[in-house]
Amino acid sequence: MSTENYKRPVRKAVFPVAGLGTRFLPATKVMPKEMLPINDQPLIQHVVNEAREAGIEEFIFVTGRHKNLLEEHFDYQPELKQTLQRRGKDKMLEKVEESEMTEGELFLTRQARPLGLGHAIWCARKLISNEPFAILLPDVLVKSQKNGCLKQMVDIYNETGGNVIAVEDVPREETYKYGIVDVDDDGSQKMPVKGLVEKPNIEDAPSTLSVIGRYILQPEVFEHLSAFETGAGGEIQLTDAMAKLIKPQPFYAARFDGKSYDSGSRIGFIEANLAFTSTDPEIGEDVKRVILEMAEKIKNEPKDVAAE
Ligand code: G1P
Repeated sequence: MSTENYKRPVRKAVFPVAGLGTRFLPATKVMPKEMLPINDQPLIQHVVNEAREAGIEEFIFVTGRHKNLLEEHFDYQPELKQTLQRRGKDKMLEKVEESEMTEGELFLTRQARPLGLGHAIWCARKLISNEPFAILLPDVLVKSQKNGCLKQMVDIYNETGGNVIAVEDVPREETYKYGIVDVDDDGSQKMPVKGLVEKPNIEDAPSTLSVIGRYILQPEVFEHLSAFETGAGGEIQLTDAMAKLIKPQPFYAARFDGKSYDSGSRIGFIEANLAFTSTDPEIGEDVKRVILEMAEKIKNEPKDVAAE
């Protein structure tokens, strides 16, 4: 296959949303974790917006039991809109309209068994068919100054073709939590990937560059996912299937402008909320004031009280 075949436009994105969200129980007992709000939008809407900004036209949710709220969130709600209109709440109406998806944009497939991220992506194979596609993990939000993370990756992909994954430096002692890339890190924005390891032991990590959860992949990855091979944690790992594309296809790790937040953890969720609300045009200044007041109070508290 010529390199040009690896440069076809990226029109589809997969969002694996079947996970249980145990880290937020009991909040996620009946509510999907992807519906937890960061500022005034649920997590899933943030990542859908990021994908839309990058030119994605088809949004594929790999969903599961008790996740119906996710698709409903993107529905039209005529009664709500009429009420807002009648009350002259134009700004709110605008926000509600931003959360709507046009018919024919949203596609659903189900992951019936929790066999791993690789398996979740494999569940979307028929909907992707034979074209390059993006994957966005909704737990991870990226806050950037200008273009969103996926848009930045598409710009790189338009030069390199093939596969592009976003990476970010993590402290060495945290490498065991992530997919880690093996690259000759010369500090540049895009680096050819030599290897990929899922959740390595700290001493085996080939670098400290972690895979953050934004991918542009060629459809051949499905051939490898179909083998149903299990890897780290006994799960079917996306990382292992991707690693098999490194030799036959262009494969790049991309540094991006911005910072990622693991909103799937309680502390990351709080940090993301502070980051996204403190720059909000409506409440940003108030949020900063509250943060500063709280910081001042914490500083003045005796140590044992602060730790409670
Ligand atoms: C997944 C991927 C891992 C990646 C991480 C980013 O792991 O398997 O390669 O670094 O997402 O959040 P998980 O967090 O689902 O264990």
